[in-house]
Amino acid sequence: MSDIETTAKKRALSCVQPSGILTLGNYLGALKNFKAMQDDFECIFAVADLHAITVRQQPAALRQQIYSTYALFLSIGLDPEKSILFVQSHVKEHAALSWLLSCNTQFGEMARMTQFKDKSAKHADNINVGLFSYPVLMAADILLYKPDFVPVGADQKQHLEIARDIANRFNNNYGEVFKIPEPYIPPLCARVMSLQNPEQKMSKSDENQNAFVSLLDDKDTIIRKFKRAVTDSDNKICVSEDKPGITNLIGIYSAVTGKSTAEIEAEFSGKGYGDFKLAVGEAVAEELSPIYENYNRFISDKAELDRMFREGAEKASYLANKTYKKAMKKVGFVL
Ligand code: TYM
Repeated sequence: MSDIETTAKKRALSCVQPSGILTLGNYLGALKNFKAMQDDFECIFAVADLHAITVRQQPAALRQQIYSTYALFLSIGLDPEKSILFVQSHVKEHAALSWLLSCNTQFGEMARMTQFKDKSAKHADNINVGLFSYPVLMAADILLYKPDFVPVGADQKQHLEIARDIANRFNNNYGEVFKIPEPYIPPLCARVMSLQNPEQKMSKSDENQNAFVSLLDDKDTIIRKFKRAVTDSDNKICVSEDKPGITNLIGIYSAVTGKSTAEIEAEFSGKGYGDFKLAVGEAVAEELSPIYENYNRFISDKAELDRMFREGAEKASYLANKTYKKAMKKVGFVL
């Protein structure tokens, strides 16, 4: 039995797509929590590479991004000795369970997904079936490992709800197989907004480089991007619904410094946007600087990353295979 099965800790699972260098949004909405959960939970984290091809990818770039996303996991402090860290496509049960779940998911349920609507509007020339059934694969990623919690940003909440619906339906139809997981969405920065359009979430696939901070941006770049952040014409630093740009920056500053909104408003009372943006840029640069240094070390040793991939896949496969076989048996397949 693997170690992870012998402890009484609650289990957490999450995945990140390797569709570009990860952003400050990914970090504050998800990865920072992964790190915080690592000691108190049995953690399982994967690079969701199968999901990435729902949008066209250059093969060489995809390969590189799989390595770089995994190296970023390590760089923020995820430790393969404490958590299972693996690449989704290395564990065959994800795609296989996704088929069983697809046959227990309604077309109408998928058609309602807001991410599908957004992405099909954005990639109108490639509205493929994988893009449509993406949440079913995500449900398989989760349900295979029977986690108690799934730490994600707010944009994944709807997908998590559908995973719970699919699991309940399957259990009702065939008998108890899946655990019903709870979302674990951070109170702060669950939705970090674009620096160029604070009505839109910060995204690694944004064509405008100034709209997001990459985890590998250097200090000068980070500060420059915050200086250019779009805000309103007023000059008052406070959280307000009609000040989405400043509200976003206050959230980011609060998440990286640990200061409350009230403390931040007091600290910058009477000061201008220029001072505040510089302070946010410097605080973010300081938070991210160790990541940048660690990353260069991890990414330069592909053989070691390959070894970690194999070890992670072996541990994950052990757990995934047990759940998959149970589901197959319940449906009536001969094993
Ligand atoms: P992905 O790769 O888009 O994002 C990875 C994680 O980062 C969070 N996130 C954000 N949080 C706050 N503000 C933002 N601007 C922001 N942008 C991204 C996401 O909510 C996510 O937690 N479908 C998933 C990947 C996935 C998955 C899973 C997640 C595949 N299988 C199973 C959990 C469990 C996705 O595309 O995330």
